[in-house]
Amino acid sequence: MKIYETKQAIREEIARLRKDGSRIGLVPTMGYLHDGHLKLVRLAKEHADHVVVTIFVNPLQFGRNEDLDSYPRDAERDFTLLRQEGVTAVFCPTPEEMYAYGSDTIVDVPRLSGILQGQQRPGHFRGVATVVTKLFNITQPDIAIFGEKDYQQLAVIRRMVTDLDMPIEIIAHPTVREADGLAMSSRNVRLTPEERAIAPIINQALDQAQALARETSDIERLTKCIYTILRKEPRLQIRTVDISDAETLGSITHLTKPAVILITAGLGSVMLLDQRVIAPGKDAV
Ligand code: PAF
Repeated sequence: MKIYETKQAIREEIARLRKDGSRIGLVPTMGYLHDGHLKLVRLAKEHADHVVVTIFVNPLQFGRNEDLDSYPRDAERDFTLLRQEGVTAVFCPTPEEMYAYGSDTIVDVPRLSGILQGQQRPGHFRGVATVVTKLFNITQPDIAIFGEKDYQQLAVIRRMVTDLDMPIEIIAHPTVREADGLAMSSRNVRLTPEERAIAPIINQALDQAQALARETSDIERLTKCIYTILRKEPRLQIRTVDISDAETLGSITHLTKPAVILITAGLGSVMLLDQRVIAPGKDAV
């Protein structure tokens, strides 16, 4: 596995790999890899001859009061895990390499970025869209894999790829969970043991809402059910609970077609995100 820190070096490597017609699969990450990331890598391997992983904690997608400085990092451990997965190349640039002095261009998907979790994190999805565009331009993959856990991010990226005619197939991987249902995230490492014990309540709320959706299509009732469960845990700071059209992320009052439940909640110093797609009268799709 080769590790590159400059755009030019990774471009040259990918040009070499492509010479025999090989397909390139990209897995963009911010590092501190967990099993969820490794599953994205395995899915990429099913669709491509070579997997390229990027590790870059993107300053552009962090707000002023967010955890850019404390975001967990351990490049050596990441490299070991990726080597074991048979990854061909890793691109891990510095912020200065990614954003040259004077850099001024951003990519914005304004409607999808401004709603739901985007209202809590102004500029976040713009930062994601910009860095993902840059990573796509640098690595020119045939396919790219993203986790469904960051559902709105996935929707923004899909929209961007369609709108800007990027010749890349976006493939989603279902949310990967710990045995007790907590959605895997690099940030989970910062939960104290007490907080870690509380965190699965989010998945429990999603389970209950999903079960209730077999009986009712009333979004208000489903939302109330989620709040009732989450409020049992006073240390959980509920930020957003939304049930939206799974495709457009637009607001809905009744479950007549697939919808997505998006939950954001603070616990200690960690912001937990989770999602579940539900369909009217049947299990999640
Ligand atoms: O999901 C993430 O880890 C990041 O938002 C991404 C897609 C790598 C962009 O920085």
